Amino acid sequence: MAVVGSTWSPSSWRGLPAFHQPEWPDHEELAVALAELARMPPLVFAGEARALRDALADVAAGRAFLLQAGDCAESFHDPSAPTIREKLKILLQMAVVLMYGSTLPVVKVMRIAGQFAKPRSAPTEWVDGVELPSFLGHMINGEEPTSEARTPDPARMVRAYHQSAATLNLLRAFTKGGFADLTRVHEWNQAFVADSAEGQRYERTATEIERALRFMAACGIDLASERQLHEVDVWTSHEALLLDYEEPLTRKDSTTGDWYDCSAHFIWIGERTRQPEGAHAEFFAGVHNPVGVKLGPTATAEDALALCERLNPDRVPGRLTLIARMGADRVGELLAPIVRAVRDAGHPVVWVCDPMHANSFRTASGVKTRHFDTIMAEIEGFFACCRAEGVWPGGVHLEYTGEDVTECLGGPSGAVLEDQLSHRYETLCDPRLNARQSLDVAFRLAELMRRA
Ligand code: PEP
Ligand code: CO
Repeated sequence: MAVVGSTWSPSSWRGLPAFHQPEWPDHEELAVALAELARMPPLVFAGEARALRDALADVAAGRAFLLQAGDCAESFHDPSAPTIREKLKILLQMAVVLMYGSTLPVVKVMRIAGQFAKPRSAPTEWVDGVELPSFLGHMINGEEPTSEARTPDPARMVRAYHQSAATLNLLRAFTKGGFADLTRVHEWNQAFVADSAEGQRYERTATEIERALRFMAACGIDLASERQLHEVDVWTSHEALLLDYEEPLTRKDSTTGDWYDCSAHFIWIGERTRQPEGAHAEFFAGVHNPVGVKLGPTATAEDALALCERLNPDRVPGRLTLIARMGADRVGELLAPIVRAVRDAGHPVVWVCDPMHANSFRTASGVKTRHFDTIMAEIEGFFACCRAEGVWPGGVHLEYTGEDVTECLGGPSGAVLEDQLSHRYETLCDPRLNARQSLDVAFRLAELMRRA
């Protein structure tokens, strides 16, 4: 990869404007937390980040598909095993549906083990007539509506690190220890999903996969010795928004001498902090992880090109993923000029659709939600645009949960209605697809891919 300016270091972002960073009230406590993080072992190993970059290079070349999904904001309240397991189950189900439908490898990346910091549209909010600092994610403050909870606390970064380590440990155990074994494809279907139309459809796919495995065994293939059938790679990712957290976890790889942000395999820059000359772009330019950038409706072709040059001047395939979140109504119109410019400049990016973040709205009673049909409409618009411009629609970036929550409206069977949103509205930040809605997105996506 390109040598960034000789002035780059994990802290060189500090000389540039950094947006959406908290004002820590106590600088001594901050110094203690940063020193503690710097002493801790890395959460991921540089070689893993390179393996993911290579997998994403296949996506960029149209030989694989990226499924990136998870919570909008992870929570300190619920680090439990069942929550992690249910999320993983749905992700595995979605990946199987996509793989079986498209006959392509699916690169699985979760928004997990570090997705604890949130940019907010306003620095304060009014709760019952009192103005409070906004909730910024559990890595920074608490969501309870008191000024005490909302005061940024640097010790939360250390807690986020430990919860991320525990989460990643369980994910590694599940994905390498037998839980993700393809022969268990039926067991990932949870009871409340299995009864639904999507669940039944999944059961049929799972049965066909079992038949295919038996067929291969009958052909004499020793399935037991095929590692790929018994383990999966699930990579971690988060928005590397809080640079105070990312910097001390950035380490020099002893084999290559390159810097890696070892807080996750993949990190991305959010829509609000993607200034090509800003602090986030500076930090990202020097780490060698595969990285992403969100591009919202105000992004221009020039912005996208500037980010490509800044983050991937050597045009390394798999290094850069562009995550478009334009809105269902305007995705074709807004994305096409960006795709053309990046394609014509020869940048081998992964094109991904985030159909969540430009399609949020509030109901009459003030609940933030998204509609399943609008989410699907943006994905369809994205596929149409990529196909018209001759680039590979490489993946989707979703907010979902494994639970039976009622946060997004609509969906296939048992659609969530507006007056049901309050039944199980549990997200700390943005509304997530529930388990059945997620599975249905996967089936529809597989159909879209088959129409390629
Ligand atoms: C998010 O991914 O939760 C988010 C805040 O997205 P964006 O930066 O695209 O608004
Ligand atoms: Co979100």
